Formats: sequence, C-alpha cells, structure tokens
Amino acid sequence: MDRADALVAGGIAAVGTLVALAVHWVPSGRFASTTHAQIQTLHWRLLVVAVPIAVFVEAVLLYTVVRFRHTRDPKPTPENRRLEIGWTVATAIVLVFVGVVSYQALASPDVTAIHHHDQADHGAGQHALPAEALEVRITGQQWYWTVEYVGENVSIRHAQTIYLPVDRPIYLTVTSNDVIHSVHVPGLGLKQDAIPGQESVIRTEPTRLGEYRLYCAEYCGVGHSEMRATIVVASGDDYRQWLASERAGD
Ligand code: CUA
Repeated sequence: MDRADALVAGGIAAVGTLVALAVHWVPSGRFASTTHAQIQTLHWRLLVVAVPIAVFVEAVLLYTVVRFRHTRDPKPTPENRRLEIGWTVATAIVLVFVGVVSYQALASPDVTAIHHHDQADHGAGQHALPAEALEVRITGQQWYWTVEYVGENVSIRHAQTIYLPVDRPIYLTVTSNDVIHSVHVPGLGLKQDAIPGQESVIRTEPTRLGEYRLYCAEYCGVGHSEMRATIVVASGDDYRQWLASERAGD
C-alpha cells in the first residue's frame, strides 16, 4: 500500500468513524418535548459530522495556500483514480447518513403534521386519538389566539397563558379564522401554519416542566407582534387546577 492508498483508506475510515459516532451520540440533558428531542438529536448528529469535515477542508486549504504560496508555475494534478474513488465513497457515506437521519426525524409524527383536512370534512372524519391524549384547538385571528380544550368545556379567547400537562400526548389542531398565521413554540420544537378553512394536527408530548413562548410566525398584519402567549407545561394536578379555574371564570 503506497501513500495515496493509505490516505484514501484513512479518509474513508475517518468519515465512517464520524458517522458511527454521530449515530450513537445523543447529547445529555432533558428535552422539552418529544418533538424537541427529535429535532435536537438530528441537529447534533449533523453537527458531529459537519464540523470535523469543515475544519479538515479549511485546514487543507490554509496549508495549501501557505505551502505553495511561492509557486510561480503551478501544474495541475494528473488524474488519480484512487483519490476520486475515495472522495466519492466518503461523500456517499455522508449523504446516505444525512438522508437516513433526516428522514427519521421528518417522518416522525411528532415532527411533521399528521393530518390536514378541510373544515368542511370536520365531524364526519374526526380523527381517533389515544385515550390518554389531550386535544387542544388553537385558532388564529387578527390578532389573538383562541384556545379550546376539546371535551373539557374550556375555551379561551385572547389566550395569554396556555397550560399543557407534562408527559401526556397532545394533539394541537391549528386553524385560522381569517388570514394565514403560524403557531411557533421554539422551546418545544413546534411550528405549524394556521390556514383558514383547513385544520392541521400536530402531535407532541411535553417532557419538561417550564414556560415556553408562543409566537405568531407568519406576518399577518399590523397586530402580528401582539400574537404572543406563554405555554406552561405543568404537572397533571396543576394543569387540572388551572383548567378548573378557567372553567369557573367563563
Ligand atoms: Cu398572526 Cu402573525
């Protein structure tokens, strides 16, 4: 094995090792929701592969610039089959990895909207939810959110605070009464456009207590910036208490 062979084999091995590391490496710490976990895990996996490759490429570039800065008459490298096979295989490994891990996240029902249907279909085509699940309808309107806890007889206009129970599947049915809005809760990894005449259902399960900001993420007129609220992920007891007080206040 000559030097070029060793370089090619070493390069492929290095890329393979990075991919293997990225697959097994999951950052510590508690994720805010199942959705947040999927997105963050994908983010870190891609970063583990991308950063060393970027550093390596920049290092080779800098080395080349410095090393050959006095070369007045540069000659192109003749064809090198081994190198070409090497970087094709290494690139293929990286691309297959990116495709597979991205698909895992994007195909997850916790990341991609699980259901879109026209409001006209509603009623007849009611989706069946798991027994322990909670369905919350969020309706955007210029310029506030209306939140309805389905089956709980609680509906809040101009919602400023939205309680969600921890460790329980939540189905958010997102829609709009006028123009396109967008429900965005970065801390929980949630984002779904609110489209008039259409209901979009997203699923998640909050896994960490805390407060998370909800923004409208689609410019919807002069009051766009007022469409903010706080999502409070609370224990089951706190959630039920809050729900009861909201019901009494109606
Ligand atoms: Cu609603 Cu922007």
